Amino acid sequence: MVQISEVNENQASQRENRTAAHTHIKGLGLNEHGVAKNIDGGFVGQKDAREACGIIVDLIKSKRMSGKAVLIAGPPATGKTALALAVSQELGPKVPFCPIVGSELYSAEVKKTSALMENFRKAIGLRIKETKEVYEGEVIELTPEEAENPLGGYGKTISHVIVGLRTAKGTKNLRLDPSIYESLQKERVTVGDVIYIESNTGAVKRVGRSDAYATEFDLEAEEYVPLPKGEVHKKKEIVQDVTLHDLDVANARPQGGQDVLSMMGQLLKPKKTEITDKLRSEVNKVVSKYIDQGVAELIPGVLFIDEVNMLDMEIFTYLNKALESSIAPLVILASNRGLTTVKGSDDPDIKAPHGIPPDLVDRLLIVRTLPYNFDETKIIISKRAQLENVLIAVDALTKLAEKGVNTSLRYSLQLLTPASILSTTAGRAEINVQDIEDCELLFLDSTRSTKVLTETKTFL
Ligand SMILES: Nc1ncnc2c1ncn2[C@@H]1O[C@H](COP(=O)(O)OP(=O)(O)OP(=O)(O)O)[C@@H](O)[C@H]1O
Ligand SMILES: [Mg+2]
Repeated sequence: MVQISEVNENQASQRENRTAAHTHIKGLGLNEHGVAKNIDGGFVGQKDAREACGIIVDLIKSKRMSGKAVLIAGPPATGKTALALAVSQELGPKVPFCPIVGSELYSAEVKKTSALMENFRKAIGLRIKETKEVYEGEVIELTPEEAENPLGGYGKTISHVIVGLRTAKGTKNLRLDPSIYESLQKERVTVGDVIYIESNTGAVKRVGRSDAYATEFDLEAEEYVPLPKGEVHKKKEIVQDVTLHDLDVANARPQGGQDVLSMMGQLLKPKKTEITDKLRSEVNKVVSKYIDQGVAELIPGVLFIDEVNMLDMEIFTYLNKALESSIAPLVILASNRGLTTVKGSDDPDIKAPHGIPPDLVDRLLIVRTLPYNFDETKIIISKRAQLENVLIAVDALTKLAEKGVNTSLRYSLQLLTPASILSTTAGRAEINVQDIEDCELLFLDSTRSTKVLTETKTFL
């Protein structure tokens, strides 16, 4: 019997901590009329941009954004990345968000257009719903049966595993293949867990711990689930979220099959093989077949390309074409530049806004972000301090906010952690003005570092 392992949702297509600076952002913070409250969803101020992003979310939900993309333009640290993240959050849970910077597309191994396509596909989710025949229940017995090793030697092998499953309606004992025993061990199944085993693939999934075993701890990592109702052997709808890129990678190996099952089966065996256009179109074919059959549903997500001025002509033309595709994700570009030359254009003297060629600018909905005033800066810093669990004195907060207005919000936010270390070292619970001043001496902001450079004409 084949053993098929499922997609581990935590592993499939999630980028690590790139957005940790934005953990306080929970959405755009709009009311039901699309109007932004001054402080909501983790955001402070920047109301026009938030409302504009809200309209974009509505356009996507009503499927009227195809062929268009978004540009968020504004000075550094005015919340461009935060807005893009919030848009993906507003689109719904499990909507893929794929953040990259322009320069990531250049590598010696992969063509830049291919790298762009890869990121496009990382931003397109596929929700697969399958009704499968399963055995589900609380494990009441788990006994491996040993046998003499048929190859001789002293060791013993496992010939079967006996699993007893219980539901509200009855119990069943299953005698299973040793390969399933391995999956049971991988999922760390023990007596008292609720699991299901797919009957034709043998895949095992641990649902949680049966709530009959619930303990009285207030906080515990374990998830308790009720005893399943119905028979042990039944049909069950199983939902999995993957991205098209996951499927590409899974099938970049020659043994990749033609149906979703074998496509998914390959998911946990990563191996670097080139993903060709041919392979992608084959995956597309299978995917559209499953969409037609109602088994799968496309979930277009958000591809966020920061520092868009790093893209060149070749990528822009490709981007233009990719936007036309019927399954494109929402592409959000961001830039903090003004007029610059377009990389790779014939005439380097011609400048274009944000380094984007005019024909693409034409397709863009442009959202502008504005610098924050003193009050807004102050609230953002104090929210961030709360999140990072640091206490800050009122006058120190004022000082930091002033600093933020004069230099940049990000600079002030970045001083928060070192300042808290200084205060802790000095044995104080709260950051005071002195800590901020000390930090300022230790770490330069961009204006001051430029000043030092121009004055001394050497190095910092
Ligand atoms: N309106 C806001 N409310 C709350 N936090 C904000 C707001 N704007 C920005 N921030 C926070 O400030 C920090 C800087 O913002 P962000 O990274 O989004 O700026 P950016 O415009 O993308 O800057 P850059 O041009 O340098 O990429 C982040 O931690 C972000 O979460
Ligand atoms: Mg940014």
